[in-house]
Amino acid sequence: MVRQREDAPETEGKLSDAKIFEKQSSDGVSWTVVSPIVFTYKITQCENLLDPNNDTLLWGHLDEDHLHDIKPQVVKRFIVIDDTVHQLYGAKVKEYFDSRRVVYKILPLPTTEENKSLELVTQILQEVHDFGLDRRSEPIVAVGGGVCLDVVGLAASLYRRRTPYIRVPTTLLAYVDASVGAKTGTLPQRQLSNGMAEILKMALMKHRGLFELLEAQGSQMLESKLQSSDAASACTTRVAIETMLEELAPNLWEDDLDRLVDFGHLISPQLEMKVLPALLHGEAVNIDMCFMVYVSHLRGLLSAEEKSRVVRCMLGLNLPVWHQDCTLDLIHKALNERLRHSAGSPRMPLPTALGQAEIFHDMIEDDLLSQAHHMWTSELSPVSK
Ligand SMILES: NC(=O)c1ccc[n+]([C@@H]2O[C@H](COP(=O)([O-])OP(=O)(O)OC[C@H]3O[C@@H](n4cnc5c(N)ncnc54)[C@H](O)[C@@H]3O)[C@@H](O)[C@H]2O)c1
Repeated sequence: MVRQREDAPETEGKLSDAKIFEKQSSDGVSWTVVSPIVFTYKITQCENLLDPNNDTLLWGHLDEDHLHDIKPQVVKRFIVIDDTVHQLYGAKVKEYFDSRRVVYKILPLPTTEENKSLELVTQILQEVHDFGLDRRSEPIVAVGGGVCLDVVGLAASLYRRRTPYIRVPTTLLAYVDASVGAKTGTLPQRQLSNGMAEILKMALMKHRGLFELLEAQGSQMLESKLQSSDAASACTTRVAIETMLEELAPNLWEDDLDRLVDFGHLISPQLEMKVLPALLHGEAVNIDMCFMVYVSHLRGLLSAEEKSRVVRCMLGLNLPVWHQDCTLDLIHKALNERLRHSAGSPRMPLPTALGQAEIFHDMIEDDLLSQAHHMWTSELSPVSK
């Protein structure tokens, strides 16, 4: 909508579907803007990312249609890379950009959970500012695990609005939980299990077939480091990404707080921070999921047999199923904290069968919580075995 001065010639025009509503009141005038926002992002799954003939790192963020419009004289890229990944692949990354004649800067950073901080974001911002990027056509590239992708994403959005941003996930967890990209062959086993936790989450919430695949072949997949030549691994990562996108895409701004992807994320943030750096993100998520499986069982949603199958599957994926610091007191505090951020109503995703779930809006009764904690501890704590 275009507002016009009274003496201007009358014209009609539409800039966008945005609407502006004006209201006069005794206090003054107010304008309310209703602006439909279309948000487009692209996910590319590819091999040989650092092959000089592969365009993904340069143009992977653009649609085919836009690609033809952009032919800059000089191609600039700013790359933030996790320190460990830099040690492993830094030379290849450099070789790639050199061979494509790109003007680039590579910034290796210690992007681990302990260092995930605003200082890191500020450092990136300063370096990007010194290097200088065109806000529309020159993306920031992040290469690393979930921490690297998170901090660089925040920096990109703070630098200039809508600065394009390419994520290259290098851990399994980062790969399946929002993006896809690099191989995982160099990852230690513990990091692979860590990523498996987020895959198991989607399996328990939405996909019985995926659960059965993890149950039957999870251990072998870990042994083979989920290389794509193995059909089960390729199917697992693909279904994990698809189920994750089905949940995330319609609710990008989290307008709807009823999110199945929050399973395993109600108690785990408190636990993870309390014992940092003892538990990886996915490990804390798994402990939370395991406890909630006991809650589901005591609510009559899962049979004893189903509960045992989930626990066996978790153990097969080398994931922790219990932790001494996940006390009843911590669980109470975490759930209350969660309630404070849930617009007044509890929102608890719980499995109702293998591969099916519902969001429950009632608080778990104290009695049931302590029964679940007791049963969980007596069945799974190392002392009680
Ligand atoms: N934004 C989202 O949607 C989203 C979703 C899930 C998780 N997260 C965040 O992601 C983080 C967890 O991610 P993560 O598990 O990838 O942890 P991470 O980023 O800390 O990486 C784990 C470790 O692996 C190392 N590493 C990374 N790639 C490697 C490789 N190819 N070979 C060897 N070592 C490698 C890193 O240096 C680090 O020490 C958490 O902070 C979590 O909050 C964000």
